[in-house]
Amino acid sequence: MRVVSGIQPTGNLHLGNYLGAIRNWVRMQDGMEDGNLCLFFLADLHAISQPHDPIELKKGTLEMAAALVACGIDPHKSVVFNQAQVPAHAELQWLLNGTARIGWLNRMTQWKDKAGKNREGQSVALFSYPVLQAADVLLYQTTHVPVGEDQKQHLELARDIAQKFNNDFASEEAPVFTLPEPIVPPQAARIMSLRNGDAKMSKSDPSDMSRINLADDADTIMKKVKKAKTDPEPLPSEAGGLEGRPEALNLVTIYAALSDRSVDDILGEFGGEGFGTFKPALGELLVETLRPISTRFVQLLDDREALDAILARGAAQARELSRPTLDATYSALGLVR
Ligand code: TYM
Repeated sequence: MRVVSGIQPTGNLHLGNYLGAIRNWVRMQDGMEDGNLCLFFLADLHAISQPHDPIELKKGTLEMAAALVACGIDPHKSVVFNQAQVPAHAELQWLLNGTARIGWLNRMTQWKDKAGKNREGQSVALFSYPVLQAADVLLYQTTHVPVGEDQKQHLELARDIAQKFNNDFASEEAPVFTLPEPIVPPQAARIMSLRNGDAKMSKSDPSDMSRINLADDADTIMKKVKKAKTDPEPLPSEAGGLEGRPEALNLVTIYAALSDRSVDDILGEFGGEGFGTFKPALGELLVETLRPISTRFVQLLDDREALDAILARGAAQARELSRPTLDATYSALGLVR
């Protein structure tokens, strides 16, 4: 097994990132057998695809490194790095640009959502972003990619690119790339905004009340949960009763995911109760779960040198691990080096 996944170091790590991805990263890391390896990286090269502040990006990269370690990513068990220190990512993207098709990228829902009606005014990087993401995983012969639901389409594209490249430039017996499998959690694959049950929880939402950040203090968490949008009905006693109630479904899903129980199990306990009872219980569970993470996060942020060292060491390992596939790609394309 070779596990690879990334996160953009823009803004805070929020509950959607944690339940949809990072918690699974930690579980996969802790369940790794000898000879298998996890690589987790900060997608700083992806972050320049949209307008950004260089000072904030630098700060965000270190903060996200601290956040991952605070969540349980162990830099002695997993390879932790940022893309900018491993030039093979950008190199492989260019090599794959010859294989990726414009029609494939045009179909990406994230491109359509982010570009909106102003496609002509977007950066080329926003359009070709999924090719860099394909490079990120294909570079390491990745077998499994733990992600939230919103990244599944990008992973399908990575498989298409790998397959076409193997067909065009390699033989079936000696493919250059492994086809990666996305691993999406059965529960919490898509945590929604606290203000709108039809929009995903996201760092780019202008309202901070729409998300729980992992560094939020207890009072802020309780306030956000209390103010979360709901409906006036009490909770049903079975999951089917949440149909057409996206905000209620979201809050129950969060509770279920945090406590590793099923939605039906939670409704068995809270069915018939109103949000006046459920919200404080959810708030407390969130505070209890996030407290050790935010305490550790604050401690780690204090030691800039240690964070730099983690990223430098991880990057050195990643550069080494990426070399054989990068060399094989150049060679398959007939590029003389
Ligand atoms: P990013 O930074 O937007 O999110 C990081 C991870 O968090 C998951 N996620 C969510 N899961 C559930 N509910 C939500 N509301 C929610 N919001 C975010 C995402 O699915 C993701 O797993 N393009 C990627 C970063 C990336 C990457 C890669 C991922 C770059 N290269 C290679 C995997 C493999 C991104 O912007 O994720």
